[in-house]
Amino acid sequence: MSNQEDRLKTLIGHAKEYGFVFQSSEIYDGLSATYDYGPYGAELKNNIRQYWWAAMTKLNENIVGIDAAIFMHPTVWKASGHVDAFNDPLIDNKDSKKRYRADVLLEEHMAKYQDKIEKETDKAKKKFGDAFNEEQFRATNPNVLRAQERINGVEGRMKTALEANDLVGLRQLIIDEEIKCPISGTANWTEVRQFNLMFATELGSVSGESSTIYLRPETAQGIFVNFLNVQKSARMKIPFGIAQTGKAFRNEIVARQFIFRMREFEQMEMQFFIKPGTQQEWYEHWKTKRIAWHRALGLPADNYRFHDHIKLAHYADAACDIEFRFPMGFKELEGIHSRTDFDLGNHEKFSGKKLRYFDTETNESYVPYVLETSIGLDRMFLAILSAAYEEEKLENGEERVVLRIPAALAPVKVAVLPLIKKDGLPEKARAIIDGLKLSHNCQYDDKDSIGKRYRRQDAIGTPYCITIDHETLNDDAVTIRERDSMKQERVKISEVERIVGQKVDMKKLLRQL
Ligand code: GAP
Repeated sequence: MSNQEDRLKTLIGHAKEYGFVFQSSEIYDGLSATYDYGPYGAELKNNIRQYWWAAMTKLNENIVGIDAAIFMHPTVWKASGHVDAFNDPLIDNKDSKKRYRADVLLEEHMAKYQDKIEKETDKAKKKFGDAFNEEQFRATNPNVLRAQERINGVEGRMKTALEANDLVGLRQLIIDEEIKCPISGTANWTEVRQFNLMFATELGSVSGESSTIYLRPETAQGIFVNFLNVQKSARMKIPFGIAQTGKAFRNEIVARQFIFRMREFEQMEMQFFIKPGTQQEWYEHWKTKRIAWHRALGLPADNYRFHDHIKLAHYADAACDIEFRFPMGFKELEGIHSRTDFDLGNHEKFSGKKLRYFDTETNESYVPYVLETSIGLDRMFLAILSAAYEEEKLENGEERVVLRIPAALAPVKVAVLPLIKKDGLPEKARAIIDGLKLSHNCQYDDKDSIGKRYRRQDAIGTPYCITIDHETLNDDAVTIRERDSMKQERVKISEVERIVGQKVDMKKLLRQL
């Protein structure tokens, strides 16, 4: 098993053991690519959502939020292009009977060449030390150049095939590159076929095409169809944005890698309506804003990178992803898309209703362009969990597992621990919790040794533990222990709320934006 698989397995085990994420319907052996969030997972997820929502709607007076229904009129999905074009190109290996996305097979194949380049560069860096000129090395080393040429070749052919919907060409590329099924090890591939990712169901009791409705595959369309409702009722002037969080559903074929790719997941999307012609400027603006939102969390900066799309979605004129270094390598975390007037224009056509903005300053009426930011809440959860998880060797030779979750997002902010279960210490602990619980999510724990209790809190990422001992009854002071440094300090009970608040307040994150 590779290191990457090991790390993901460890995370999955930890997430289950400590009540973050469970396999859905586990007692029935689970339902693939569907997960439930446990007590700490639900808190962490809420906190991430709240951070996103506040960053969008509180910090920008020209962005408002909505909460649209999951079910929408079926014509929405014709207008949006999802009925005709929301497809994945699939290919099966005849020996293993495993099904793959043809484009993912090719991307993983290119990633292997990229790995070679990185390894070669790292080796040279170690060899030459300070004298190493990385830029020159990448531009001249024959092994690097050869690998880069292979990547460019595959990328070029793949782009051409995808754009032309040339499924035969896509398959030929897989054959020419001698890509093998990781399970059977053979290149015995079927034809490539297109597969629509939307889940369909019947509305009411009548069946037939007219009553087929879909579970929304993105939250964005609920925003587009409400464009005029929101613009008018909230008296918005262009440029303005509409934000929404909510469930989306996709019948993903290759649904692996835990909560990274699920069939039911949650999106946090914002559509920003702008004047046609200004899209490039807003594209850059939202790229900067969104990466700042991620960076404010304080996770290592080299976990993020931008990746421009090689195949643009059916609605976009420019698009990139913010990729994150997940345990499986760099993968898409968030998309930033310049969607032009594709959606509003099509909804005008299909609904027969005008979806225009009248600019009172220029006396012009136009269909606005749209700049979209779209992030998966579950992917963001996985990003935080994977960056936060650490098995740390302590000075005394022991080991602890600690989740260094950004304090403002931690599920529990403070644990209150009476040293023993008698002599009035539990009562004192409860009284402290009563004082804190309106501001912070608190937990009471009096079971096992204090060391074990600290470990339990470390494992769920609690930023502070407060210990009540016999002295507390005399001096109204407690020992406060900080998660990351494990430093302990004696402080007055009256100071606790301020100390905890300073560290865990979400305003600390929002002020950086
Ligand atoms: N409205 C645009 C849109 O939906 P997308 O790139 O298909 O764009 C946006 O999805 C984000 O939603 C992705 O960057 C990812 O974080 C998340 N996402 C997409 N499919 C997902 C899945 N099957 N499971 C979990 N998250 C997913």
